[in-house]
Amino acid sequence: MSEQDVREAFRNQAIFCDRSGTPVTAAVVRGIAAALDRSTETGRRVLDWQGDPRGSGDSVPLRLAGGFHALARRGADERLSRLYRGELEGSDAVVAGVLHRFDAELSSWLDSPPQTNETGRAAPIMAALLLLAEDYGLPFELIELGASAGLNQNLDRFGYRLGETQAGYAESPLQLAPAWEGGSPPQAEVRVVSRCAIDQSPVPVADPAQRERLMAYCWADQAERIQRLEAALALAAAHPPRVQQADAADFVEAVLSEPQADGVCRVIFHTIFWTYVPADKQARVRSALARAGERATRARPLAWARYELNGQGGVAELHLTQWPGGRERHLATGHPHGSAIAWHG
Ligand SMILES: C[S@@+](CC[C@H](N)C(=O)[O-])C[C@H]1O[C@@H](n2cnc3c(N)ncnc32)[C@H](O)[C@@H]1O
Repeated sequence: MSEQDVREAFRNQAIFCDRSGTPVTAAVVRGIAAALDRSTETGRRVLDWQGDPRGSGDSVPLRLAGGFHALARRGADERLSRLYRGELEGSDAVVAGVLHRFDAELSSWLDSPPQTNETGRAAPIMAALLLLAEDYGLPFELIELGASAGLNQNLDRFGYRLGETQAGYAESPLQLAPAWEGGSPPQAEVRVVSRCAIDQSPVPVADPAQRERLMAYCWADQAERIQRLEAALALAAAHPPRVQQADAADFVEAVLSEPQADGVCRVIFHTIFWTYVPADKQARVRSALARAGERATRARPLAWARYELNGQGGVAELHLTQWPGGRERHLATGHPHGSAIAWHG
């Protein structure tokens, strides 16, 4: 891509941030675009970027936005801290100054893509579990693919208001009450007897530096997301999630080759993960599920719950497939963070 394409990627990201109601992140990304030149290592690496710098590719603007937010969170530069408190006047000069002052550190944020873990997505998954709990009346074995830091491994320890339905723990520090349209999922008991998660690149949140990194990738002006993440990290300190490093297709084939215990409903679930998986691996996951589904019984049911982008511009859909039988339902449509849900179930 040309230098012009690279700058365009930053400007488009800034427009997206403005439209998302995040003016601070927009100002930082716009400021970086204006400051990019060959006098810094960061500037040279960005302008010579070999892959696709856009949000749909390597997300270069958001790599650096994470670095700037990390600097602001630790109070590394007073003028940057003021910018992050919402003083946007002169933001281009502030960003250019910080880019020069912290060049080596910011350049290191280019080494890896942004990695987030959104607990708001537990809401649609919990809604699917309520349906399964009502249907089978069995406890759950939960298996999560592409779990990132594994914060949604604690989903039964969150509190929920899903339409008219209350679920989870009313006293939980993490309460999810997405804007809701349509009917409500059933009131039922969700009991988890076993849980496991995998990711090709897990974020180990036992490490304080990794926790801070996760926080930095949250946009500073998304206060609710930041509060959710803080609450989820507090829960993770008390109930540490375990996320195994594995490829989803390899793992699903292995785990589904053995049936679960009798009297347990096994659920494979994932959120905003499927589009990152190449088609051949998606096909392997599907056929491993279909094979295991043929062996499922009402005493050992299998379900596949997924909340995934539908390819129509920032919209996610909740789908549930259940075996025995292979019944497939489109249960809900919503915001990719799970903050607003239209229930069709
Ligand atoms: C956008 S993140 C979503 C993380 C989490 N599910 C959430 O909703 O917050 C996608 C995750 O999928 C993981 N991933 C992508 N392809 C994978 C694969 N083939 N096997 C395992 N994990 C994968 C990435 O490492 C990343 O953590």
